[in-house]
Amino acid sequence: MQEILLSEILNKPKEYVLAHPETKLSPAQKRKLKQMQELLHKGVPLAYVLNYKWFFNNKISVNKNVLIPRPETEKLVELAISSAKQNKPQNIIDIGTGSGAIIISLKRALKTKAKFFASDISKKALLLAKTNAKGLKISFKQGSLSKPFSKYLKQHSNRVLITANLPYLKPKELLEKSIAFEPRLALLGGKKGSEKIERLLKELAKLNLKDSLIFLEVNYDQAKKLSETIKKLIPKAKTTIHKDLASWDRIVEIKIK
Ligand SMILES: C[S@@+](CC[C@H](N)C(=O)[O-])C[C@H]1O[C@@H](n2cnc3c(N)ncnc32)[C@H](O)[C@@H]1O
Repeated sequence: MQEILLSEILNKPKEYVLAHPETKLSPAQKRKLKQMQELLHKGVPLAYVLNYKWFFNNKISVNKNVLIPRPETEKLVELAISSAKQNKPQNIIDIGTGSGAIIISLKRALKTKAKFFASDISKKALLLAKTNAKGLKISFKQGSLSKPFSKYLKQHSNRVLITANLPYLKPKELLEKSIAFEPRLALLGGKKGSEKIERLLKELAKLNLKDSLIFLEVNYDQAKKLSETIKKLIPKAKTTIHKDLASWDRIVEIKIK
């Protein structure tokens, strides 16, 4: 851990830090190191101490207003990229974008003329997502679930790719220590945990999308139940459940003909 902090403070690669143990720190650098160590000691996640997290080979800035992007979400990005290469969507939309990690990774990976959009209910999260996406052509909107796009999607209902890693925890799951420093708004999905995802599905069902794909990240115990909900809401949809690296059912893929 120490070499990661020193690498940040000295602005040198970790390998340099390890090869030069004799390096002396200036008083300001010593103060910075102490401050970082104290934050880590209090349990603040490393990504919040460094103010960034690597996600799908992109350095994504993070702060206390956004969730730290997780490795399991990289699986969602991988699946969305490989589907997009086949289905060639015209509009790509990430709902609940947080730091912007998903949409930025999709935009960088896909050489396409498709339009890219992302939304979040949190203005503070959007501010950071926009900074992270600087120079990329992504249009950011503020609002709840599909609302910022409902008008647009009524007129552009063909070949849409939607990704959403919405909050999916139940109130008692918020007591988990490892997430204590992350925003409640990014974590709490309602009493059952899946309420926000279900609300999004109800909204999307009404939009009558065609030749479209939806990728949802869900909690390990939600995928099967959500598949049944999808069957009722969008009977023509084909749902596939994908596992994460730990073999939990974590990504729900919905294909609409
Ligand atoms: C689990 S975080 C995921 C952030 C990011 N997509 C990622 O994968 O790292 C969920 C995000 O959804 C946002 N959110 C919560 N409720 C929402 C709603 N009703 N509509 C849109 N976004 C919402 C939160 O502000 C948060 O940024």
